[in-house]
Amino acid sequence: MNNDIDVSVQLAGLKFKSPVIVSSSECGSDLSQVKILTKMNVGGIVTKTFTTPGEFRIRVRPYQFPLNKFGRGFKEGGSLYSLAAPHVEERDQILDKVSMMAGICRKYSVVLIVSFFEDPTNISNWVKQAKAFEKAGADMIELNFSSPSAVTVFSKSFRQAGAIISEIKKYTSFPIGMKISPTIEPLESFVSIGKNAGLDFITAHNAPGGIIIDVENEVPFGAPTIGGYVMGRTFLPYSLGRIVRIRKSSDIPIIGVGGIYRTDDALQYLLCGCPLVGIGSALYFRGFKVVDKIHSGITRWMRNKGYKNIDEFKGKAYNFIKDGISLKSEEKYPHVVPPDCPYVPVIKSEKCNLCGRCAETCIYKVITVDKEKSLINIDDNKCWSCGFCVGICPSSAITLVERANRGKIIWNNEGLAETFK
Ligand SMILES: Cc1cc2nc3c(=O)[nH]c(=O)nc-3n(C[C@H](O)[C@H](O)[C@H](O)COP(=O)(O)O)c2cc1C
Repeated sequence: MNNDIDVSVQLAGLKFKSPVIVSSSECGSDLSQVKILTKMNVGGIVTKTFTTPGEFRIRVRPYQFPLNKFGRGFKEGGSLYSLAAPHVEERDQILDKVSMMAGICRKYSVVLIVSFFEDPTNISNWVKQAKAFEKAGADMIELNFSSPSAVTVFSKSFRQAGAIISEIKKYTSFPIGMKISPTIEPLESFVSIGKNAGLDFITAHNAPGGIIIDVENEVPFGAPTIGGYVMGRTFLPYSLGRIVRIRKSSDIPIIGVGGIYRTDDALQYLLCGCPLVGIGSALYFRGFKVVDKIHSGITRWMRNKGYKNIDEFKGKAYNFIKDGISLKSEEKYPHVVPPDCPYVPVIKSEKCNLCGRCAETCIYKVITVDKEKSLINIDDNKCWSCGFCVGICPSSAITLVERANRGKIIWNNEGLAETFK
């Protein structure tokens, strides 16, 4: 059925049979998990981050706290407060494991990406580990520059990150990537240090840390510290925004990670130019089958759109993205205020059920609803043309149209608003 559609992707000279890969987490730490994952439609698996110093491998328990009890948004978004640290076992055990993982991955044509981290000030240890992973059969490595301790060091010295990459490059021949934190700034300078050092790809991003308070018990929820990975679907626009920034400053290939739970989440990253997407916490919240679902969803979407391969649409949405300054400089009505704002809402009476969401939420009080008389009134003269009511209406009854020419639709909650085309 899928023979006519090619979803394979090339990155750093390696072929991935699917653009969907497993991002680094405990799901890539054991052979049994890797065996299950390789039988699914995954292009690659990133291992759990390995490290040698014992102090980086301390695991407090329990360490995984889903935030479901904090409400629907957290539950549906797949939010997790996690204290998962790098892998626990000793170096020799890890190397044995990597070589067995490599064997399994090879059998199923799945690319094995080993993630690791060492003391950022000890470059020779980074090189030693990289060489050992290459010898053990890893196809590529992902330097985990996203851990809190790495960020502390690298934010003071970007050069240190560059030195680690270029030194590893001297002694290995497989592709090298770095996984970055969503807080490293200035992002463009960090990326350029990596690029100059010979980096083959960037994985963006690890998730931010945070903390959440259980107000009933008046204590921090789960563990009394700032935990890593308070992620989930809400992280997607943030991660994607930074990826756009990286792409604007560098042509380095990016593995897009952050908030991917569904096919359309993954497609957003591909449409912004990422050749591959990594699935993290969704494996926990939706089970391993989520990778298959996303893979087949991408194939279905491509068939519906008539695409035969990923390159036909990769980066298509990215090409529309401008920086905020140019967008503002092109605005036709930069300083108007009501009653002269250019666009106003119209309500399709056949779709409106008078629920009143628009009236409740319009902060300018443009819309009023009289449920008893089944009347809805719009006071155009108060409208700022913001568009909020269009998106908030649960029955898609509201459209923003040109004030002067009521027929012209400016925003209907789909695609790009007409003004920006
Ligand atoms: C339980 C858990 C453990 C993780 N461990 C690692 C890790 O060892 N190394 C790493 O680079 N990222 C790790 N991550 C981060 C993920 O790879 C991913 O970057 C992050 O969760 C954002 O993606 P998501 O929104 O799809 O979860 C971990 C994530 C989770 C949920």
